[in-house]
Amino acid sequence: MEPRSETLAERGDSPVRLPSAWSSGHEQRSGWTRLKQAAPSLVSVGVLASIVPAVLGLGAWSATSVPRELGEYVVFAQNDLGMHCMQRDYSRFLILPPYNSVNAWVYRRGESPQPVTELQGGRSLTIHVPGNTRSSDKTNWWRHAESLLGQAFEPEIGLTGNGMSGEFELAARGLFEYVGMPITPLDDADRVNPYQLATVEFRQGDDILASTQAVLPVSWELRCDLCHGDPAPGLNAELDILRDHDRLHGTTLEASQPVFCAGCHADPALGAAGQPGVSAFSHAMHGAHADRLVDLPMTLANECYACHPGERAQCQRDVHQMNQVNCNDCHGGMADVGDEARTPWIDEPRCADCHERQGFEFEPAGVLFRNARGHGGVACVVCHGSPHAITPTVTEADNLQHLSIQGHAGTLDTCTVCHIQQPTDPFPHRRDD
Ligand code: HEC
Ligand code: HEC
Ligand code: HEC
Ligand code: HEC
Ligand code: HEC
Ligand code: HEC
Ligand code: HEC
Repeated sequence: MEPRSETLAERGDSPVRLPSAWSSGHEQRSGWTRLKQAAPSLVSVGVLASIVPAVLGLGAWSATSVPRELGEYVVFAQNDLGMHCMQRDYSRFLILPPYNSVNAWVYRRGESPQPVTELQGGRSLTIHVPGNTRSSDKTNWWRHAESLLGQAFEPEIGLTGNGMSGEFELAARGLFEYVGMPITPLDDADRVNPYQLATVEFRQGDDILASTQAVLPVSWELRCDLCHGDPAPGLNAELDILRDHDRLHGTTLEASQPVFCAGCHADPALGAAGQPGVSAFSHAMHGAHADRLVDLPMTLANECYACHPGERAQCQRDVHQMNQVNCNDCHGGMADVGDEARTPWIDEPRCADCHERQGFEFEPAGVLFRNARGHGGVACVVCHGSPHAITPTVTEADNLQHLSIQGHAGTLDTCTVCHIQQPTDPFPHRRDD
């Protein structure tokens, strides 16, 4: 990783609140509470931060390296989540199907950059993943989809009708989406890579006006087998899970395979309402397992990697990982995630839980980071990367987009990527400045 730009050094003390007393493992719950209470001791940091806007206005933002030769347009693409989990085997139950989505934005460069808001006159925005063009021979999803969801899908076609390559569609002003690509972490040469690299091209007929590369993070590294299943031959982890469920809750899942968990447990990730009176899937999983993680092997670096990908995939791979900020620091522990008072998939950590910097505003109220917009209406993820892949990242693939467009990895801070001339006004971080 190359040294960060002058700007960081000049900034002096970090306005980030990170109580040093945070511990790891099972103490996280109280650690998280400390985070919420940490504000008073950090007032002085807020004062220090007030010198920052002045620095910003003094041209500290000039590029540290010359951006790649850019044309009239520039395209950005980011995965909607930092990681998509799937299973390889759906013969017993479905937690999450193969389903990956990318958002893209095209800007017409200028003194005042403008978003492209429609595709017409032979224009298109396309996506494909070189070296990963099929999925139906890599997972048995297509064999079991109909019994799980009551609907069959053609091979290589995902839940929304999109395949392994195709064209983006306009979703909102200036926002294009490619939703539900059924990609797996296994490429066509049988290599496992949870960071599949897609090529996104803005085209006029056959001419490529602008292009970029975006990571499609996908992993089936769910390690339920760390605790479930028995060394006894014949009892695999999935069957053990169904039997435990039947024994503990009087259900008949073993006799009803394959089972769609969200058929009973509500899951917003799948738009599944569940059955009345049954706990939401996230509450059930985290709440019930909160006291069970003591069984984990001590070698596991992170308790969340028992089920989230994972020891190998390292879905949390960003600048926070580099700074030893881990899952628990942002999310709390298992009991916090399983707390029925929070709404799964909606009540998520916010940048402003820790970052406070004068002149900067983070996620607007009620909007998730992944959907929020800042500077001139530009999506946060365009400049910062997807959740859990906030640049600069530990992974090379996630750094590529910013590296190739501005010559260095990390936050997109080279103004002339979008503005034809270096703006003389200070950098407005918030949307409506
Ligand atoms: C750290 C160990 C551990 C891991 C990892 C783990 N489980 Fe469990 N799970 C348990 C224990 C212990 C039980 C209780 C078994 C019993 O009482 O017989 C259990 C029970 C269950 C049950 C029964 C319902 C209930 O009351 O909890 C389900 C369903 C379940 N686990 C699903 C999963 C799935 C799915 C995964 C992976 C995504 C997973 N578990 C990973 C330890 C674990
Ligand atoms: C037929 C409906 C049904 C299906 C399908 C189902 N569950 Fe359950 N599950 C229940 C009920 C009912 C309970 C007990 C009441 C509750 O937790 O709301 C329960 C409890 C649980 C619990 C323990 C929750 C707690 O707080 O103790 C876990 C974990 C769980 N289910 C996971 C799963 C998983 C994983 C699947 C898919 C393999 C699944 N369930 C499929 C109905 C279902
Ligand atoms: C026993 C397995 C298991 C463990 C351990 C686990 N998770 Fe999860 N987690 C799941 C499953 C399964 C889902 C998917 C739920 C869904 O599809 O809604 C999930 C979803 C989530 C979500 C998204 C849904 C929501 O509630 O907002 C968050 C956030 C999350 N987990 C955080 C964590 C963190 C942080 C840890 C470690 C402290 C952790 N999980 C440990 C199984 C687990
Ligand atoms: C720097 C803070 C931070 C860390 C560290 C972090 N998360 Fe998150 N997490 C977030 C934020 C913010 C969101 C909401 C992102 C959004 O806008 O969708 C989120 C969302 C999630 C979700 C829901 C899916 C999504 O992307 O919205 C899951 C699952 C999750 N986190 C699991 C984890 C796990 C597991 C770890 C550790 C391996 C982890 N997180 C580490 C901040 C963090
Ligand atoms: C749990 C606290 C916490 C949360 C939540 C959090 N961060 Fe951070 N962040 C840190 C820490 C600690 C550092 C590294 C220390 C530093 O920069 O001084 C950091 C560093 C960064 C950096 C590197 C640049 C810099 O200023 O050093 C960026 C960019 C960043 N975070 C963005 C985000 C974004 C975007 C979110 C919300 C999606 C977020 N952070 C959420 C604690 C957090
Ligand atoms: C046009 C690009 C751009 C957009 C859009 C943008 N940011 Fe930033 N952001 C930056 C730059 C540049 C910095 C300063 C980075 C540095 O200090 O290295 C920054 C800094 C940050 C930091 C770290 C602040 C600190 O503590 O030093 C966070 C957190 C952050 N942004 C969150 C967001 C969020 C949330 C959004 C959307 C609401 C957003 N950003 C939109 C460019 C952008
Ligand atoms: C991702 C593309 C992008 C990057 C990178 C970017 N900007 Fe902008 N900027 C925009 C857009 C879009 C607008 C809104 C233009 C409009 O008014 O419609 C804007 C507006 C502005 C404005 C308000 C005046 C105007 O031109 O409308 C200033 C000042 C500005 N940017 C400065 C900067 C500075 C300084 C940087 C580098 C730190 C920067 N921008 C980086 C896209 C970008």
